[in-house]
Amino acid sequence: TLPRVYVTRRVPPEGLKILNESGQVQYELWDSDDPVPRQELLKRVKGVDGLLCVLTEKIDAELLDAAGPNLRVLSTMSVGYDHLSLDELKKRGIRVGYTPDVLTDAVAELTVALLLTTSRRLIEATHEAKTGGWGTWRTMWLCGYELANSTVGILGLGRIGVAIAERLKPFKVKKFIYTDVEPRAELASMIQAEYVSMEELAKQSDFLAVCCALTPETQGICNMKLFSKMKNTAVFINTSRGGVVNQEDLAEALSSGQIAAAGLDVTTPEPLPTDHPLFKLKNCVILPHIASASYSTRNAMSSLAANNLLAGLKGEPMPKELKL
Ligand code: GLV
Ligand code: GLV
Repeated sequence: TLPRVYVTRRVPPEGLKILNESGQVQYELWDSDDPVPRQELLKRVKGVDGLLCVLTEKIDAELLDAAGPNLRVLSTMSVGYDHLSLDELKKRGIRVGYTPDVLTDAVAELTVALLLTTSRRLIEATHEAKTGGWGTWRTMWLCGYELANSTVGILGLGRIGVAIAERLKPFKVKKFIYTDVEPRAELASMIQAEYVSMEELAKQSDFLAVCCALTPETQGICNMKLFSKMKNTAVFINTSRGGVVNQEDLAEALSSGQIAAAGLDVTTPEPLPTDHPLFKLKNCVILPHIASASYSTRNAMSSLAANNLLAGLKGEPMPKELKL
């Protein structure tokens, strides 16, 4: 009999097509756009050989125990893996596939869009235009900050950070700087970025883009200690994970004028409650975690997740396997 797989969400069609046409698995699908309720998930995974999930599913000891000893492959349709208990997966010898690279362009594009939207105050501007605030052309009205001659800082230099810098360069950025746990010489040389300390990154950046993975080490690293060293004119952008930011500190830094503005594609929690203080700040632009949301990229992520799963079940190298 064929290996059994549970797919925790209605993933984009290309991935399901790959599973269907492979003839190698029988899968059950949570055929909804909304997450499977936890209790339902714990029931459905019982006895499966493989699991294809998205980032809203917490894959922890409880879930893995509920699945039982047949489970040997986990494939997540995401580049982020902070929803996975890597230790628990490793302990059980479960292989893990994820979806880096295929979403790099989409995430970089969105990050640039969010950066410009935030720095040039586009959301405020359209609101003013629509609601009667546009009394006349005014010399200093809705002024923002420009990329030309600026220093752009990247917190956590990986594929996505490089792709963002490549796109920003034509805007005449003067200098790219980055910090990470250690220098990333090869990636940095692609964008002539200089390795600096966290402190220098905070002090020098006109635009600071967070591009690191959420790990125990990066949890809450964007806090008042960082914001207090930043320029009052600096713009903070986060398209990685909400957990890297201390949101109370960010709200304080934004409302006090410690920094100029923030653009966030990710928050804690998601969705961010509509009455959250960050939503009340004009200088904070919040998007609902859409950085990889282009048709082509979401289909590519779905396909890659399906191919990772099939390869894993066959005991073959996965196209993109996370090293545990
Ligand atoms: C999106 O946030 C992802 O991890 O793919
Ligand atoms: C702006 O529209 C200008 O003419 O300066």
